[in-house]
Amino acid sequence: MLHCAVILTLSFRVNSYLNALIVFKNLYIFIGKSDNFQTMQKNITAKSILIIHGPNLNLLGIREPDIYGTVTLEDINHRLLEMAQAAGVQLDIFQNNSEGMLIDRIHSTFQDGTEAIIINPAGLTHTSIALRDAIAATNLPFVEVHLSNIYARESFRHKSYFSDLAVGIVSGLGYKGYEFALQFFIKS
Ligand code: DQA
Repeated sequence: MLHCAVILTLSFRVNSYLNALIVFKNLYIFIGKSDNFQTMQKNITAKSILIIHGPNLNLLGIREPDIYGTVTLEDINHRLLEMAQAAGVQLDIFQNNSEGMLIDRIHSTFQDGTEAIIINPAGLTHTSIALRDAIAATNLPFVEVHLSNIYARESFRHKSYFSDLAVGIVSGLGYKGYEFALQFFIKS
């Protein structure tokens, strides 16, 4: 925390507003990690996990590969399902391009025994209060994942309607981000 405070103070003194904002966002992630540490001590282990991929993520592999990589969504899901199976965890994966379908899938967690969610809301990260409200309504712990580092990209991507509710955020580590998030719920 002291380290964070120092970075934040320095950034406000030395950097431009934008840099301060970026550092603030990094700080936010850092605080998220610190909260995660406490959460890990509380042991959020889930036996039934839902992964949600938002709009356009079906195009991974061909979509802007310099930003999102060349691994397809099918490959990512395959690895995640293998990890879950090896850990004896039930994993359901859902991708959709429409906001309403994503909201309906989140609502179905009231009935299907889901204990934790991993979500990449994709473009809806920066726009969708409705999707945020849906995930908040479930009161389930969730990790927000982005393949790219949204804080190192255009300023409109720096706003997330999910981060303040998330247990943690993984952004910029490519498809590995999903695996780290899954490991967290399997092993925490
Ligand atoms: C994304 C980042 C978003 O800004 C973008 O709209 C996406 C993917 C990511 O995984 O890096 O569609 O969520």
